[in-house]
Amino acid sequence: MRLCETDSSLLLHAPAKLNLYLDVVGRRPDGYHELDTVMVSVGLYDTLEFRPLPSEAVELTGEVAGLGVGPCGGTLPPLSWGEENLVVKAARLMQQETGCRQGVAIRLVKRIPMQAGMGGGSSDAAAALVGLNRLWGLGLPGTELHRLAARLGSDVNLFLDSVPAALCRGRGEQIEPYSIPRPLDLLVVKPPGGLSTADVFRAWKTAGEGSPGSGHDMMKALTSGRLDQVASRLWNSLERPARQLSPDVARTVEFLRSTCGSGVLMTGSGTACFAVCRNRSQALAWGSRARQARLGQVFVLRTAT
Ligand code: C5P
Repeated sequence: MRLCETDSSLLLHAPAKLNLYLDVVGRRPDGYHELDTVMVSVGLYDTLEFRPLPSEAVELTGEVAGLGVGPCGGTLPPLSWGEENLVVKAARLMQQETGCRQGVAIRLVKRIPMQAGMGGGSSDAAAALVGLNRLWGLGLPGTELHRLAARLGSDVNLFLDSVPAALCRGRGEQIEPYSIPRPLDLLVVKPPGGLSTADVFRAWKTAGEGSPGSGHDMMKALTSGRLDQVASRLWNSLERPARQLSPDVARTVEFLRSTCGSGVLMTGSGTACFAVCRNRSQALAWGSRARQARLGQVFVLRTAT
């Protein structure tokens, strides 16, 4: 998360993530699923600009980049700018938990595709916690921000500390940060349709169906800088249910496998899919083929270091 401060406002850049490995270990008594997952931050950012308000109001405005305000295209529901938005929920939670009587106007520019499995909403919520802690002068320590983050969603903790990579367990909120020796170049394709995380987890049936190793093994491959080993250990237990729910996912994975080879995976609960590339020029070349195939939004990205 990158932060710029002026006299009158605070600007935060909230990154996207990709899951290089995601194994659903089992169902938990609280209805969530136990995960073993490896995530990396990538250089695609939403921006949030915070300005103080004299009242206790929390106002959220903004735009979906390239699409203007309102419905975001494809078959996705329109982004909510009201109380259901995770950014507004984060602000309300901070007011409730600290008794803070200050307000805020937040302008959000969304570039991270929604219902993509790229963590955009969670990253925005983490940016809201960090930004408001600063803007309102609350001085909450990291442990308290992590407690609030876990209440907002399973992926919010990942984004609080701006880690380049992490091995995540529990619901996804238990973070073990890592740095990676060399950046990864990635091609991401986001088909027009989206999937709800809850729907995909509900459609998941069986644990342990053939995952190659563990999150720990993937992290070893990633920290050794061995691209071939990263590519051979890619795994996502949610890909099968997501393919069943969305023909877009199947189409996108098949296109990427035929164009880019075996280092291809869906991220999170979908619907975005990615290919691990040898370098940026390969990512650009594959990216132009993906654009010609008109499968959806195409991003040539690099992991954040
Ligand atoms: O935690 P978050 O609000 O992001 O999760 C959205 C939904 O995804 C949850 O309500 C739950 O249905 C499902 N989920 C799950 N197991 C996880 C994470 C999410 O079942 N580890």
